[in-house]
Amino acid sequence: MLNTKQIVNIAWNKKFVIPAFNIPYLPMMKAVIDAVRDENSFALVQVARLEWEKFESKSLKAVRDEYECWKDEKHVRLHLDHVPVLDEDKLFVDYMTIIDEAIALGYESLMIDGSRLSLQDNIEATKEVCMVAHQAGLACEAELGAVLGHESGPLPPYDEIFESGEGFTRVDEAAKFVEETGCDWLSVAIGNIHGAISEGTRGQKKLAARLDVQHLKALKDITNIPLVLHGGSGIRNEYILDAINNGIAKINVGTEIRQAYEREMEKGDKEAGRKAVYTKTREIIKEQYMISGTADIISAAGKI
Ligand code: 13P
Repeated sequence: MLNTKQIVNIAWNKKFVIPAFNIPYLPMMKAVIDAVRDENSFALVQVARLEWEKFESKSLKAVRDEYECWKDEKHVRLHLDHVPVLDEDKLFVDYMTIIDEAIALGYESLMIDGSRLSLQDNIEATKEVCMVAHQAGLACEAELGAVLGHESGPLPPYDEIFESGEGFTRVDEAAKFVEETGCDWLSVAIGNIHGAISEGTRGQKKLAARLDVQHLKALKDITNIPLVLHGGSGIRNEYILDAINNGIAKINVGTEIRQAYEREMEKGDKEAGRKAVYTKTREIIKEQYMISGTADIISAAGKI
C-alpha cells in the first residue's frame, strides 16, 4: 500500500491536489469520507490541536477512533495538522508529547508548526520532529512564514499585507529551512490566511484571499518539495488552480465545511449538519479543485 508521502508526491508530479479537510466536530468525519469516496477522489482528514482545545473534536484519540470507524484507505488517510510550538495565544506547547501520542495512535503523517518562532528556533524544533516522524516512517510537514488568521484580535488590513508581502515565506529562508530540517512538505505564506477561530468571529464569512503565484513559483524552484497551502477556504478559484500548477500539492480546508456544519447545528439538526458537510465537500472536490477520480490515478501509479 502506498504511504501518504508517496501519494502526495504523485499528486505533486502529476499536478493535482490532495485536499486535507479539518475535523473540528467528530460527526464531520463520516460526511467528509463519504463525500471523498463518492467523488472517487483522494483526501486527508486532519485535526489540529486548536480543534480539540477550542472546538469539539475532543482529543487525538477520539479523532483516531472516529477515523477507524469509517476509514477507506483507497480514498482517505489521517493527518495531524498544526501542532504549534508557540500557539495562537502565544503560549508554549509541549509539542513533542503530542507528536509522540499521534505516532503511537497511528496517525499517518503530521505537522509541526514553528512559524511563530525565529528562523533558527523554527529550524531546531522542526528538525527534531522530522527525525522522530521519519523514524516512525511518517512524512513531516512544517511551516515557514506567517499564515495569519488564527490569532485573536483584528488582522492587519488584508490589501496592505498582500501588497507589501509582509510575512510571506522568504525564498532565501525557505531554501535553508528545507535543507536543514529535512521536512517533506512545506506550508508557505503567499497571501493565504486562515479563517478566524476565536469566539465571536469564527462564524464570520472569510475574506476572499489572493495568492502571489509568482512568489510561489520562486519557492517551488528553490525548495523542490511539495508545498502546502493553508487557509484554503474562500480563495478565488483561478488562484487555486494556478497554485496547483506551480507546486501546491496539499490544500487545507477548514472554515468552509465547519461553517456549513455549524449553521445547521445552530438549528439543532445534526443530520442536516452532516448533509451540509457532505454536499460542501463534494462541491469543493468536483467544482473547485477538479479532482474527482484521483483515487484511480493514485492506485494506478502505485501499481507501476
Ligand atoms: P481555513 O479554515 O481557512 O480553510 O484553513 C484551514 C487550515 O489551513 C487548517 O490548517
